[in-house]
Amino acid sequence: MITKKVEKALNDQIKLEAQSSQFYLAMASWAETQGFNGTATFLYAHSDEERMHMLKLVKFVNERGGTAIIPQLEAPPVAFESLNYIFEELLNHEVAVTKSINNVVDVCLQEKDYTTHNFMQWYVSEQIEEEGLARTINDKLNMIGKDKGGLYLFDRDLETMAATSTDAQ
Ligand code: FEO
Repeated sequence: MITKKVEKALNDQIKLEAQSSQFYLAMASWAETQGFNGTATFLYAHSDEERMHMLKLVKFVNERGGTAIIPQLEAPPVAFESLNYIFEELLNHEVAVTKSINNVVDVCLQEKDYTTHNFMQWYVSEQIEEEGLARTINDKLNMIGKDKGGLYLFDRDLETMAATSTDAQ
């Protein structure tokens, strides 16, 4: 059984994961309309992953005697100014997600809920990977700058990355 405080922290996390999924879906759709098909494939897959993060939390809350709340979400932007902007936003968003996960872990410790604490460790490790990946992509984009050929290759690389991470699941 989870306490009300842990339930609230987990429901806040459900909302954030749902928002991440929605936000990355909007980015994917925009990238597709701009002809960045590799980036779109990568972001569509990333959006699916965030939905999986949300679902895992929903099931956990219900299993532990709480009630998962499926949140209402604000509409994400329709257009983005550039690929650089997208991936800077993605990194900022992931940093905020990490902060929120750390908060859930903190609440678990305050409430002496070691079961949820243990469950959350998967998210702690996942965030190290997600932030690391977002930083690598930003570094690549900063190196490429406005070089069109570089951006073309970058987009192709992301398609491969998306295929590799889907295979790994
Ligand atoms: Fe589910 Fe990207 O954090």
